[in-house]
Amino acid sequence: MANNRGPLSLKDYNTAPFIVGTMRMGHWGRNMNASEIEKFIEGCISMDLIDFDHADIYGSYTTEADFGTVLKKRPDLRTQIRITTKCGIKIVSDKRPDHKIKSYDLNKDHIKRSVENSLLAFRTDHIDNLLLHRPDILFDPYEIAQAFTELKKEGKVKYFGVSNFSVSQFELLQQIFPLCTHQVEISLLHREAFENGILDQCQKWGVTPSAWSPLGGGALLKSSSEDHNITEVQKIVNSLCQKYDAQPDQILLAWLRKHPAGIIPVLGTSKLSRIKNAIESLNINLSHEEWYLLWQVATGTEIA
Ligand SMILES: NC(=O)c1ccc[n+]([C@@H]2O[C@H](COP(=O)([O-])OP(=O)(O)OC[C@H]3O[C@@H](n4cnc5c(N)ncnc54)[C@H](OP(=O)(O)O)[C@@H]3O)[C@@H](O)[C@H]2O)c1
Repeated sequence: MANNRGPLSLKDYNTAPFIVGTMRMGHWGRNMNASEIEKFIEGCISMDLIDFDHADIYGSYTTEADFGTVLKKRPDLRTQIRITTKCGIKIVSDKRPDHKIKSYDLNKDHIKRSVENSLLAFRTDHIDNLLLHRPDILFDPYEIAQAFTELKKEGKVKYFGVSNFSVSQFELLQQIFPLCTHQVEISLLHREAFENGILDQCQKWGVTPSAWSPLGGGALLKSSSEDHNITEVQKIVNSLCQKYDAQPDQILLAWLRKHPAGIIPVLGTSKLSRIKNAIESLNINLSHEEWYLLWQVATGTEIA
């Protein structure tokens, strides 16, 4: 049972095969009401998916609070799930009147204030995993490490990670503070992490990579794509669907999961039927050649 899990260690933090994304749940997407969110959380828990990926900015600083409304009513759900949230991007919003322009901020004060805001919004006393959403070009790794150390000591955050960092930025911080994840965009549409060293670095440090927009934000599944490469990818995906008696999203997820770094897709759907599909995709083991077939058609160039 998900709620009987023991204390987390850095090594086993990311044991679930998928993380459930929340970006499209609220004002930036489906506008789910409290009862829909409650049913969705319950459904995910029943499938043993207990990690929910948030960011302070989702829904223009409203989605954490939408989720928190449910947790306030159902505190039993809080004990069965783990909350990831992110900070470091400042967007212009009437919820943050002091933000004059969009910017990135990884100063200690901003990190700590963001965590306080997230705790209030979620109506919880701790965040399980705090990610720095984007690298602030002006970041000081020692200042970040100090913020993380204080938040951990205060019991407000259990684990820490980053998102969208470069290999060198990750290394700079990892050397002074242990990170447990690096969340980057990875899909057949966005393949940079396979070649820019990020996945190698995760393997080197034993850090779990997670993939945002694993289905290309849905673009890889659109039936009438005008993008030639996407149409060609879809043809190969469809032929593999026949072979594996699978749905296209399942083939796309199986493709990500084949990489030895152990990529954990952050699912963007708010539909339980599609979450179930994702879980069933765990039975699909694409061959080496099938993986390259998809790579080749996505890049549009033959393997040299
Ligand atoms: N760290 C970062 O910088 C960052 C950036 C962006 C996102 N994220 C995180 O990553 C999560 C996932 O991102 P994403 O939403 O772009 O992921 P995604 O899974 O690639 O895309 C989700 C979209 O695809 C649609 N979709 C899913 N399955 C489908 C199917 N079988 N047929 C047609 N459409 C389908 C969904 O619609 P339905 O809802 O109708 O299923 C939804 O609109 C976010 O929720 C967020 O937590 C992080």
